[in-house]
Amino acid sequence: MEINELNPDILSVKPSALRVFDHEISEDPDIVKLTLGEPDFNVPEHIKQAAIASINANQSHYPFYWGIQELRDAASTYYRDKFGYQYTADQIVCTVGATEGLSATFKTLFRPGDGILIPMPAYPVYKAMAGINQLVPIMIDTTDTDCVLTPKQVTDAIAAHPDVTVRGVVITDPSNPTGAVYTEEQLAALVPVFRDNNIWVISDEIYGELTYGVKHYTLSKWLPEQTIIINGLSKSHAMTGWRIGFVFGPAGVIDQIAKAHQFEVTTPTSIVQYAAVEALTHGQNDAAAMRKIYEQRRDYLTQSLDKLGMTYVAPKGAFYIFTKIPEQCEQDSFTFARHLAKTYHVGLMPGAPFGDPQALRISYASSNENLHAAVDALTKELARVGSLAK
Ligand SMILES: Cc1ncc(COP(=O)(O)O)c(C=O)c1O
Repeated sequence: MEINELNPDILSVKPSALRVFDHEISEDPDIVKLTLGEPDFNVPEHIKQAAIASINANQSHYPFYWGIQELRDAASTYYRDKFGYQYTADQIVCTVGATEGLSATFKTLFRPGDGILIPMPAYPVYKAMAGINQLVPIMIDTTDTDCVLTPKQVTDAIAAHPDVTVRGVVITDPSNPTGAVYTEEQLAALVPVFRDNNIWVISDEIYGELTYGVKHYTLSKWLPEQTIIINGLSKSHAMTGWRIGFVFGPAGVIDQIAKAHQFEVTTPTSIVQYAAVEALTHGQNDAAAMRKIYEQRRDYLTQSLDKLGMTYVAPKGAFYIFTKIPEQCEQDSFTFARHLAKTYHVGLMPGAPFGDPQALRISYASSNENLHAAVDALTKELARVGSLAK
């Protein structure tokens, strides 16, 4: 048996560069990591108690593959109240984290050879999923427009690929890795171009509850018939390891996504589904305290980077800052990040996997102490190369 006889779409996709880099630097026992997008908060107590109660109540049987009715009802109400989603329980599938929701959606919406627009910088999973599904990823550089996709960029990208049928786009709002957040006007402006070109919008709103001083809007408000929303509790309720997400979509297509999901995973763990009901019925304010702390950390980091003369995309949501590597420093993001890890025991994520090889992503889902260590390391490095702002 030869490895190269295996599925070429899997062979050609690389393991997540983010995980590989994080793993690599984790060998250092003293490393301070601001690498992964992992809330440093515990799951709220009432959700933990609900999970324990679910175990004790022997809720251990196969749930319905779409997810239990109570959870889909709760998700319908919760996200309507939070963001104005208009989806009934039979338009919602409960998934194993947002990731499985993305995977089932990619698999269902597209045919091999279809083009998918990915505004850059982007969460690298989209490109990997495009590859696994034999799609043609069309990367659109949005750095000139504050990392917000514009209608002109969409029409230009379509015109530049006359041989590709563009059938999808991913909008990540708020964005990983930049923290950019679309305004209502910016989203509404995109609707005609998506409608006229029959483009499915995969709207990844996993950071929707984490915005600072601005409101989160959903494209589904204007284009529900062509939008699939991905959301979940990983970030809002610090439940990354529990693996629970949701896909919202129009009747008809959501039934097809549910099938793709069923044959991949059946359904998320029963106990987690019951705990998630608690999160959505009594945890409407769980994110508020975390959001406040994230905002303070964001302010600390932006002020610190300003003092160092480092430039970045203004972060209004999620918990990341995407900053350019200062000119005087080593410009290759992997080499520079490795240097910071080795010299100062501080792990920052190289920007290359997100589409900018001369940038770093700093996650502030990490303690103040860790943030101070990161700023300290950058300060020392800039002093070393003689590039400290006057
Ligand atoms: C933009 C974005 N979408 C989806 C995910 C995956 O979420 P989950 O852990 O629920 O699968 C992440 C995780 O970092 C993310 O940043």
